[in-house]
Amino acid sequence: MPTASDDPVRQAAASVLGDAAADAVRTLAERSRGVLPTVLTHASVRHFDPDPVPDDVVAALEAALVRGPTSSALHSYAHVLVRDPVRKRRMALLAGEQRWIDQAPLLIVGCADLRRAREVTHAQGYRYTAHDLRMLISATADLTVGLQNASLSAQSLGYGTVLLGGVLNGSLEIAQDLRLPERVVPLVGLSVGRPAGGHWPAPRPRLPLPLLVHHEAWTLDSDAEAALIDHHDAHTRAARDFEGRRIPWSEMGLGGDDPIADGAYGWREHTARKQGRATWGPQGAKVDVDLPAQGLRVRGTGEVDG
Ligand SMILES: Cc1cc2nc3c(=O)[nH]c(=O)nc-3n(C[C@H](O)[C@H](O)[C@H](O)COP(=O)(O)O)c2cc1C
Repeated sequence: MPTASDDPVRQAAASVLGDAAADAVRTLAERSRGVLPTVLTHASVRHFDPDPVPDDVVAALEAALVRGPTSSALHSYAHVLVRDPVRKRRMALLAGEQRWIDQAPLLIVGCADLRRAREVTHAQGYRYTAHDLRMLISATADLTVGLQNASLSAQSLGYGTVLLGGVLNGSLEIAQDLRLPERVVPLVGLSVGRPAGGHWPAPRPRLPLPLLVHHEAWTLDSDAEAALIDHHDAHTRAARDFEGRRIPWSEMGLGGDDPIADGAYGWREHTARKQGRATWGPQGAKVDVDLPAQGLRVRGTGEVDG
């Protein structure tokens, strides 16, 4: 590991912790059997070489997908690995036409499985009284743990990844395409492949740590919060982090020309536009239709089946 301050692990630690703490973390990273360097230097990859992921690597990722903790030992998830280019093309389209899903040789579709435990409950002769929304939340945690473990494993082996919440946009159609049983619901995907041309993106900025991590209890007043967001916003504007992926002004439904000049579009404007757009398409309320259509009861409380 390089000793210079341009060591990527130290830089990544310094970007969130500051210089003083970064040296200590870098020292710990040397002891962490590769885990901390992989975690700290993470960056999503959206340009991939087409070479297939070898079978031994796929096997390692399968193990990583299931070796994480699982709420109540329920294993309320199922992952579908997709390598067929035609099927992957359809998945890319359904997940919001994300071209990196096409490009990456491997797609993992992470699904909540709220079926298996219900079948077992019935087979044992009981009524299923669990609450679907509650179960969906823990299933989402389960499957995300697995995907993140697979992602870190892939990164440690030289493969890039990007998580794909866009899968939720086409959850119902993806479920049909993958022939999933009722109550097995696609929620998050992961694309995996070699970064194009061996190019790894640099770790991307994070909001200042005090916005994201508290000690003992919430420690932030609203003035401090606003100042920290200002700081981050100025940084992202200066670095033009969000140029090229602006939410178009036309999506805000406010008419006229975009009032935000080049160089003035930062994290704050992007976040506000992302949450304040006039039309949402499949990123919006489609989920209210998709989840019940896949057999989940996510509204109301206390409903049980017979
Ligand atoms: C739950 C979740 C869903 C995401 N969905 C997508 C997605 O659909 N498409 C995409 O390109 N990136 C997606 N991402 C990746 C984020 O955009 C990315 O993590 C974020 O911009 C920070 O960049 P970094 O991962 O390079 O640090 C997702 C990340 C998470 C955690």
